[in-house]
Formats: sequence, C-alpha cells, structure tokens
Amino acid sequence: MVVAFADGFPQAQRFGSLFDLISMAVPVLKRLSAAVFSALGQALDGSAAWLRKRPALASWVFPAEDQASEYRRFNVWSFSRFSQQEQMLADGPRMAFYQEAIRREVRAGDRVIDLGTGTGILAALASRQGARQVYALDHSDILQHARELAAHNRLTGVDFVAIHSRDYDASGPVDVILHEQMGDFLFDEAMVANVIDLRDRLLKPGGRIVPSRFELYCEPVKVRDDRRIPFIWELKVLGYDYSPLAWHRPQEPRYYRHNGTDLSLIEHFVGTPSPALTFDLHTLQADQLPREIRLTRTVTHPGRIDGFVVYFRTLAGDDLALSSSPLDPGRAPHWGFPILRTEFTPCAEGDHVELTLTVEAWDQPDTWRWQHRVVPAGAPD
Ligand SMILES: C[S@@+](CC[C@H](N)C(=O)[O-])C[C@H]1O[C@@H](n2cnc3c(N)ncnc32)[C@H](O)[C@@H]1O
Repeated sequence: MVVAFADGFPQAQRFGSLFDLISMAVPVLKRLSAAVFSALGQALDGSAAWLRKRPALASWVFPAEDQASEYRRFNVWSFSRFSQQEQMLADGPRMAFYQEAIRREVRAGDRVIDLGTGTGILAALASRQGARQVYALDHSDILQHARELAAHNRLTGVDFVAIHSRDYDASGPVDVILHEQMGDFLFDEAMVANVIDLRDRLLKPGGRIVPSRFELYCEPVKVRDDRRIPFIWELKVLGYDYSPLAWHRPQEPRYYRHNGTDLSLIEHFVGTPSPALTFDLHTLQADQLPREIRLTRTVTHPGRIDGFVVYFRTLAGDDLALSSSPLDPGRAPHWGFPILRTEFTPCAEGDHVELTLTVEAWDQPDTWRWQHRVVPAGAPD
C-alpha cells in the first residue's frame, strides 16, 4: 500500500529525499560546528591570554595553584610512569649504595618509613634486612604496581599507603626513614621539606635517616670545544654577527641552564672541586640553608669557563658514597648534571674564579641566580 502525503509524494519517495537532504546537510553541519567551536576556542584562548596579562583580574578567574601543588602534580604524573622508575632501578651505583646503606642502618625489629617507595624496592630491602614493619608511602599511581610486586615476591611486613607524606600520620614513631628524593639539582624534588616534616613528626629520638649526609657542588667547568654552544649574542657565524641579540636576552630562567646528560660533554673541572654546601638531614632546619653561596676556585686547568656544573654526593659512613658528578667514573648514571651557563670567560693558571649563587628557594631552580668573575693570579684583593 502506498500512503500518500498531503503534498502528494509517496512515503518511499519522501524517505529518499529526506536521506538525500540529511546526507547533504551532515557535511555542512560538520563544517559549521567545527567553525563555531574553533571560533569559540579562539575567543576563549584570547580572553584567557588577555586575562593572564592582567594578574589582578586573573586571580579572580583562575584558581590559584601555588608552585608546591603544581610541582606535586608533576611529581605524581612523572613517577607513575614505568620509564621513570626503570631508569632508577637500572642505575647500578644507586642500587648498590642503597643496598649497602640499608644493610648497615636497618636492624632487625626496626619500624621503617619508606618515603616515596615507588616500585617498593627500598621497602623490600629493609624488609629483607629484618625490619618488623615498613610503611611504604607514595602519592603516585605506581603504588598499585608496588603492591602487585610485593605479592609476587612474597614480601611481608610492608604496608603500602597511597598518600603524600605530609598527610601521613598513622604509624607512630619509627626507627628509620628511608628515602630517595634527590633531583638533578639535589633539592628539586622537595627532599628537605618532605624528610624534615616526617623526621619532626614521626622519627624516634636517635632514629636514623638514610641517606642523611649531603654535599652540593657547583664547579666551574670547560665543555669540549666541539660541544660548546655559546649564547646566541656571542656568535659570529661565517662572518654574520649576532651581537645585537644581546639586547633581547630571554627572560625564562631555563634558557640560562643546560641539562647535561651526556658525559662526553664536559672536558674538565677548572679547579679542584669542594662542596659548596654540606648538611645532615638529622639536624638540618629548613631555614638554615643559606640563600647565598660564595665560592672561589683557583684555576688548575687553564683555558675557558663555560659554566658551573651542579651535582651532589650523599654519604653513608666514611666509605660509602653516591655521586652524580659528571666526572666521577662511579657516578650514578640516571641523574643529569645541570650546567649554569656563563658567557665566554677565559682563565689562566692560578687565576681565582669567584662565584656568587643566590637562591630564593633551593627546591625551585628557576629562582637560582649566579654571577662570576675571574681575578687574575697575583692581582691585589
Ligand atoms: C625518586 S623516586 C624513588 C622511588 C624508590 N624509592 C626507589 O628508590 O626506587 C621518588 C618516589 O617518591 C614519590 N614521592 C615523591 N614525593 C613524595 C611524597 N612527599 N610523598 C609520597 N610519595 C612521594 C614519587 O611518586 C616517586 O615514586
């Protein structure tokens, strides 16, 4: 039966033309909605950019996120990835240091907090060492894998707690705090604040922090000639002069640092290394870290200074150390070695290199500022 509509078209024909109409309309609608949403997006981006240029107004619109919470979010994200964890686990010198330090410091019957347990490896070493109970804390999703690994490896006596250490208050006093919270800049993973917080709240009097003794270094270095990259305004490339760009020095602090990972980059230290800062986490108070460090090195390897390399050593006893120095053959390879860049600075044997490093916050390398000068050998003070 053919049902006729008022306009006289049979239904089959009507469906046919409706389909045609829809199939013609869909691409047009798609293009239209793409255009509308893109215009909307651009308008929103534009307004956001306009607002961000007016901080007073922006603070009403955007939720305030302080640097600490921003860093926390980044930390959670980065350590939830296998790629981060496997680099640390495959770092032989790092693992050997922790194995021996835990063998020396954790005793049978101890109660231990493993601050930032990651895959649970330090908790496992402590448990094997005879710890009665290990509280293994981590705020990143890697903890679910730590639990899985513990079950697979038949680990006992370890409580995995998904929490940021500052919020943790459950275990009562412990004998040992274990941690590996060192960043390339030593302080940039909030080690000092996190460890001191747990120490003051949950470590027994006389309890041990592993590791606790640290040395920070900031040494003038020469980069290999074929690897040296001057600032752009220092360049003259095939007779083409870039010096006018000195008037346009970038504002972003990262530009003034190089994140070294390749050991062949550095040719030598210019002087004899010595710690710029030393501290022990058993006794350090956060406000004791100086905001300014001055150091002087006598030039023993003359030539040129390309920057100041930042690295650390941590010590457990007099004969056990873990080092991120780029020139230490036994270094722990997964740590990078930031170089605080300097403009071309020639230096001769016996000259004195003076560095002043000022920081607003040690855990925020973007707040580090440095100045240096070379005083010729024999010049009056
Ligand atoms: C450098 S990894 C070390 C992992 C593990 N301890 C090891 O040695 O292989 C640091 C770990 O600490 C966690 N972490 C950092 N700060 C933390 C905090 N305040 N509370 C809990 N976990 C934290 C990170 O998610 C990360 O898994």
